[in-house]
Amino acid sequence: MSFETNEQPTSSPVLLASDLEALPVSITDEAELEAQCIVGFNSRDIRSRPFNLLRTQVLRKMRERKWKILAITSDAPNAGKSFVTTNLAAALGQLADVKVIALDLDLRRASLGARMGVFADNGLSDYLKGKVERVSDLGVRVQPLNVALFPSSPASLNSAELLVGPRITSLFESIRALPDDYIALIDLPPVFANDDAMAVMQLVDAYMFVIEEGVTTQRQVRDAMNLLSPVECIGAVLNRYVEQPGDSYGYSGNYERYYT
Ligand SMILES: Nc1ncnc2c1ncn2[C@@H]1O[C@H](COP(=O)(O)OP(=O)(O)O)[C@@H](O)[C@H]1O
Ligand SMILES: [Mg+2]
Repeated sequence: MSFETNEQPTSSPVLLASDLEALPVSITDEAELEAQCIVGFNSRDIRSRPFNLLRTQVLRKMRERKWKILAITSDAPNAGKSFVTTNLAAALGQLADVKVIALDLDLRRASLGARMGVFADNGLSDYLKGKVERVSDLGVRVQPLNVALFPSSPASLNSAELLVGPRITSLFESIRALPDDYIALIDLPPVFANDDAMAVMQLVDAYMFVIEEGVTTQRQVRDAMNLLSPVECIGAVLNRYVEQPGDSYGYSGNYERYYT
């Protein structure tokens, strides 16, 4: 293995606010973002509404509790974790008083880069392996989302080993030391897929649970939350909810394809 597990966390921060301010900018076409189901940045689009509501709730709770690092997980793949992570990040990115970082730590099925139109040679797994020294070299500011993205390269094996140890600890310590207006969203693998999500959970402030309408059972939610305890759950998102006739929310059009 090419990484050292006996290393101590570095005492100097591996990611500073000044690094984040100076990230290279990558512009992704709005049509491309929309094709990737990213609409949370565009408040003219009715489909951004649920993400704006989610943004308000998440922000209120995170500020109240002085939380900075929120993980997004589910019980099984395809529930919509990356969909929620990217749209919530995009919605938060539009607020003048919030600075958003999105990190792809679903190392085996990395997708945030491709979704946001960023195709980089190196990703977070290369930092975690010790191949890339500076985390800031991996980041890019995606516009018009206004999100500082730290993508990963897909198909990283042995990810559970990468997600414990001094390098990931240093990364999270640095994020925690950022000014209070920063919020980090961490796209994680499903809880039951492997050890990866559990490893990262030790480092976050809270997690959001994505439930897939008609697929995730009550028991799966309960088992996952028991497993994740005592990490705090900020709430759950019901994804792929389809509006039923008689629902009184008054939303229409494509809205119901996203979630409520
Ligand atoms: N509410 C939704 N409406 C439309 N497409 C969705 C929705 N939720 C997820 N998807 C799509 O389903 C696929 C799987 O979602 P994804 O977020 O990648 O799942 P996960 O990250 O949980 O494995 C993606 O192509 C995503 O764009
Ligand atoms: Mg995903």
